[in-house]
Amino acid sequence: MDKVRCVSERFLVTGGNRLVGEVPVGGAKNSVLKLMAAALLAEGTTVITNCPDILDVPLMADVLRGLGCEVNLDGSTVVITTPAEPKYHADFPAVTQFRASVCVLGPLMARCKRAVVALPGGDAIGSRPLDMHQAGLRLLGAHSEIEHGCVVARADVLTGARIRLDFPSVGATENILMAAVLAEGETIIDNAAREPDIVDLCTMLNQMGAQVHGAGTSTLMIRGVARLSPTTHQVIGDRIVAATWGIAAAMTTGDVRVAGVNPKHLQLVLDKLRAAGARVDLESNGFRVVQAERPRAVNFSTLPFPGFPTDLQPMAIGLAAIADGTSMITENVFEARFRFVEEMIRLGADARTDGHHAVVRGVPRLSSAPVWSSDIRAGAGLVLAGLVADGTTEVHDVYHIDRGYPNFVEQLGALGADIRREGAPEALKGL
Ligand code: UD1
Repeated sequence: MDKVRCVSERFLVTGGNRLVGEVPVGGAKNSVLKLMAAALLAEGTTVITNCPDILDVPLMADVLRGLGCEVNLDGSTVVITTPAEPKYHADFPAVTQFRASVCVLGPLMARCKRAVVALPGGDAIGSRPLDMHQAGLRLLGAHSEIEHGCVVARADVLTGARIRLDFPSVGATENILMAAVLAEGETIIDNAAREPDIVDLCTMLNQMGAQVHGAGTSTLMIRGVARLSPTTHQVIGDRIVAATWGIAAAMTTGDVRVAGVNPKHLQLVLDKLRAAGARVDLESNGFRVVQAERPRAVNFSTLPFPGFPTDLQPMAIGLAAIADGTSMITENVFEARFRFVEEMIRLGADARTDGHHAVVRGVPRLSSAPVWSSDIRAGAGLVLAGLVADGTTEVHDVYHIDRGYPNFVEQLGALGADIRREGAPEALKGL
């Protein structure tokens, strides 16, 4: 995808249509990027299937190519051939374009015993330090410092250790896990993240010959092995994209069947939709959301899995904005995520934030306005709000949405939304 072209594009969403129909969901963004990084752990050819058609996948391919891998993208399959001795320097500019690039740190330490990984930089959703990643690597015997804008890590040998995370960080769990699979002896990660993406990574690592136990619990036990072999692995369905469609159905009093995701990954989210008045039917490979009347107000509190995902907080605010009653939304993971609420207020939402809390008094209908996406999920939340706003909402900076949602406009259009992609006027370019 041409990023320069995307930067100047916007979506035009005309509100008022119910979403009706079936929508397929592809592989999870937050899984595939880590699985691609895990390919560094074994010499030879790893095949990853069910990869989503999003911008971050070719970006990750570029990072791996910079480390000496051969990477071929063919539809939803990514084939990665890793050399016997990967390079250990993941440099600007590829790495700085997206956050998940930092997940090459653990595999590089495992394979090369050294790594130089450019810091991915700031993010619109709040500060994203790497202190827990570094502390974990240090406990495994590495030196790790920030030097000249890079994480620089080095070890003579990695030795298993007991690591207690301050917070169940997804990224820190993944990096420490991927460093530990080839370390000497046993590593225990306490307070590990339990997200389905972590379970998916553990499944692939075990297929490669790793010995990881406890996936999906807060304690991961890893017995280091001498080497891993390449494998073929299918990415799990994207629960965040799937839930976005479910929330969109509830907001538009629609009827949407979502296919390609494990509904067990979304139990709390689906409970919230039921509390908002939706009928939710579970299916083996997805779910159906039918909303007959204006949604009722529901409170949300974001937490690590199995709590309500922070990545769905903007959509939850969209739902609260048009619900009958007042909702309280509490953000416990990324402090700056509420910046997006200012854009919702442009659309007529009656919302106030105070620290970690947002109070949203539902109004029957929003009103269209030009709004700006600040990250993937905020962008999707604004489009959902546009679906229930009078008139035509212009959502700018949609390249963020393209980083996480494959064929977003086409899929929404197929469900009956009035949405199209357009180049932005000259005056808006470069904003
Ligand atoms: C991943 C997801 C992101 C999701 C988030 C939480 C990817 C590519 N991104 O991000 O979509 O919103 O999980 O589910 O998978 N923290 C520290 N020090 C650290 C690491 C993290 O203080 O060393 C803090 C962060 O600032 C944040 C919290 O821990 O407040 C959670 O972050 P983390 O779980 O690490 O998120 P990511 O892996 O960056």
